[in-house]
Amino acid sequence: MSVLRFEGVSKVFRSSLRGKYLYTLGPITLGVEQGEIFGYLGPNGAGKTTTLKLAMGLLRATSGKVLIFDRPHDSRSARKCVGFLPEQPYFYQHLTAVELLEFYGDMFGLSRDENRRRALHLLELVGLREFGNAMISKFSKGMLQRIGLAQALVNDPDLVVLDEPMSGLDPVGRREIRDLILDLKSKGKTVFLSSHILQDVEMICDRVGILSAGRILEIASVAEVLDRGVRSVEIQIEGLTVSVARDLGFAGASSLGDKTVVNVAHQDEVNGAIMKLAAAGARVVAVIPLRATLEDYFMSQIAGGGNQEGRAFHTQVRGPRSRERSDRGATGRQSDREELISNTPGKMGR
Ligand SMILES: Nc1ncnc2c1ncn2[C@@H]1O[C@H](COP(=O)(O)OP(=O)(O)OP(=O)(O)O)[C@@H](O)[C@H]1O
Ligand SMILES: [Mg+2]
Repeated sequence: MSVLRFEGVSKVFRSSLRGKYLYTLGPITLGVEQGEIFGYLGPNGAGKTTTLKLAMGLLRATSGKVLIFDRPHDSRSARKCVGFLPEQPYFYQHLTAVELLEFYGDMFGLSRDENRRRALHLLELVGLREFGNAMISKFSKGMLQRIGLAQALVNDPDLVVLDEPMSGLDPVGRREIRDLILDLKSKGKTVFLSSHILQDVEMICDRVGILSAGRILEIASVAEVLDRGVRSVEIQIEGLTVSVARDLGFAGASSLGDKTVVNVAHQDEVNGAIMKLAAAGARVVAVIPLRATLEDYFMSQIAGGGNQEGRAFHTQVRGPRSRERSDRGATGRQSDREELISNTPGKMGR
C-alpha cells in the first residue's frame, strides 16, 4: 500500500476567456511508499506545486484520484495523518511563533499543556528556540521557512508534504532541514518533497520523479541514477611516473601534483588495474568513481525528454490527452481560477 498515491491524476488550467488551454498536468500515476523520502523535481512551471496542491486538496483534479493511506485524500482520517509546508507560506503576522504553533495544535484538538509542550519542542527542532515570543511579522524568509516546517509537524504526521523546504535557507539552515527530514525518515515517516536544489535531493532522497511541462519523464531510485552515472574510475598512485604508467597500457595517464592518475572505464576493471600498477611498484593513494551528479542526470532528462523507459511512459501519458478532455466534460469541471480552494492558515490541507 502506497502512503500517497496518485491514480491518473490530471489538472487542466484553462483561461476564463474562450476556455483556451493554458496548462495541462498529467495524468500522473505515482506511489510514494512507506518510510521513503521522495523528491519531486522539475524546472520552473513544470507543475510541482500544482501536484502537491492536488495531493493536499487545495486544488481539485480534473480527473483521477489521490489516496492517502488508501483513503480519499480529502477525508478527515487521511488529513489527520498529513503535514504540509506550502511553497510560500503565509501566516498571521500578529501572532508569536508559539501562538502560531498553538493555533495549529488547537485544530488537532491538542490539550493546552500538550499544545505548549509540542510548540516548544517544534521550535527547538527547527532552530527557533529563542524566537518563541517573537512576532511572525518580524521573521526573515529563512525563519518563516522554519516555522512553516514546524507547523507542518504539529500533528506528528505520518506523511509530510513539503514544497521547496530548503528554499530561502542559508547553507547551515539547509543542512539542518536536511537532517530534520532524515530524522523524520528514521522515525518511519514518509516525506514527499519538491525541490530545485538537486544537491540536497541527492543527499536525502530515496527516489525521484522528474517532471517536465506537466509530464513525468522518469521515476527512479537516486542510488540507481548515481550508479548509472558512473563514467569512469580514477586511480591515483605514487611511485610510478606517467610514462611508465603509459607503457603499462594506461594510455591516458597524467600527472596531478606529485601523483600519477590513470583512468579505467568500468568499475570491474579496477582490481586488475590496481594489481598491475602495484606489481610495477606503484602505491595506490585513491580510487575515485567519477560519476554524473543528479544535476547532470536531471539536465539530460529535461533536455532529452527522458530515457527510453521515460520516453515510453512519456508517450503513454501523452496519449490520453483527448480522453482527458472527455473526462473533463464528464465531470463538468469548473474554470481554473476559482479552483484554488484556500491557502490560508486556517485551511491548509487539514
Ligand atoms: N491557478 C492557476 N491558474 C492558471 N494556471 C496556473 C494556476 N496555478 C498554476 N498555474 C500554471 O501551472 C503551471 C505549473 O505551475 P506550478 O506552480 O505547479 O509549477 P512549479 O513546478 O511548482 O514551478 P516553480 O518551480 O516555479 O515553483 C504554470 O504554467 C502555472 O502558470
Ligand atoms: Mg512551485
